[in-house]
Amino acid sequence: MSLKVSRGTQDFLPRSCKKLDFILRKARAVFEHYAFQEISTPIFENTAVFMQGIGEDTDIIQKEMYTFQDKGQRSLTLRPEGTAAVVRACIEHRLLTSSQKLFYVGPFFRYERPQAGRYRQFHQIGAEYLGESSPYADAELIILAYRLFSSLGLKDLHISINTIGDSSSRPAICALIRDFFTPYHSQLSAHVQQLLRQNPLRILDSKDPFIQTCLERFSGFQSCLNKESLTHYQCVLSLLDLEKIPYKETPFLVRGLDYYTHTTFEICSEQLGAQSAICGGGRYDHLVEKLKGPATPAVGFAFGLERLLTILDQENSFKIDTKPLVVFIPLGIEAEQSCFSYMEQCRKAGIACHRFLGLTKLSQHLKHAHNLNATACVIIGENELQTQQFLFKHMDSGEQSHIPIDQLISTMEAMK
Ligand code: HAM
Repeated sequence: MSLKVSRGTQDFLPRSCKKLDFILRKARAVFEHYAFQEISTPIFENTAVFMQGIGEDTDIIQKEMYTFQDKGQRSLTLRPEGTAAVVRACIEHRLLTSSQKLFYVGPFFRYERPQAGRYRQFHQIGAEYLGESSPYADAELIILAYRLFSSLGLKDLHISINTIGDSSSRPAICALIRDFFTPYHSQLSAHVQQLLRQNPLRILDSKDPFIQTCLERFSGFQSCLNKESLTHYQCVLSLLDLEKIPYKETPFLVRGLDYYTHTTFEICSEQLGAQSAICGGGRYDHLVEKLKGPATPAVGFAFGLERLLTILDQENSFKIDTKPLVVFIPLGIEAEQSCFSYMEQCRKAGIACHRFLGLTKLSQHLKHAHNLNATACVIIGENELQTQQFLFKHMDSGEQSHIPIDQLISTMEAMK
């Protein structure tokens, strides 16, 4: 029985939490500029939300869900993604009488084979724009994601974009893929043969080397798209051109979830290796209806925080501003109590303070204060208590001076 962190999960230690906070603050600022509001849904949902929302032929539903029965025999699932859950919440709270721009942040769970950039518990920031069928909504979201990553200092981003057309184009696309693979039928695995019968589009997403080789001869399904689908797609591309957002048209980009229609896109970084996608999204015009809501077109994306952290670490892009911290050093029992009260006064005035309990030597206190990256130390010994002056030591310069007790807060405020 292991007492170590569970496979595919990780601890975020204080330094990583600061980096996550840095990303979140940037993201929230960008979402605000685009008028998106935050929503938060439960970590687990009734399993049917994902079963009906994501599509039964997807890897998520077939292999990756953490599903369990609670004591009331309900089938529950730790959320593997956010879109179906946000849609469920919008239907339940009747938010879809007008369009909604929503974003969310939190942990998600997929039972995948762990490797660099792939975890069983990972974190996403996602955005869903519900109630708009216009290609302007697709373009706005892609641009939002691009601007967000740029504001974080990410370089060498690649946007891949495609259209899989609306639902009326789907039968012709499926027929085309089936016809293409018919001559190879006996060489296909049982799983691919099943996909060919039930959900041929999924095959284009396959990592199977044989399928990949076959697909080199497949000319794509763009000929099956109807006029509306092509017009929608061309409009999205022209809006990206207008804003000079670079992208690459990627004809087989169908994405691993079944709810997509029209636009699909991914944003990748070369720095990530095999799991290169930081962000994925697209339009999903029928998901709300599938979850028994009113017909509502929608588009969205989500990106993985772990992958973003990896790139930002490699690029050394974190600019974490640390707030001033003052370490109090009492020398003697009498000084300990005075320190306790002065520290509370400082905290009330908005100044962060700390005291290392149990240390006796000044040198130990200073060493620990240095390790904590303290801005200054306030040293209070018998002499200081008698003269009602503190010894104030700047950690960077090493300079120290005596200051009257009543000037302590103003001195510290000047450091903020
Ligand atoms: P997704 O492509 O499955 O889309 O996930 C989006 C992003 O989450 C990925 O690009 C990746 O950065 C991160 N991610 C996914 N799985 C893992 C994992 N096992 N470990 C680490 N990071 C991971 C969705 O989830 C859709 N709900 C996106 C969407 C929103 N489409 C429309 N609206």
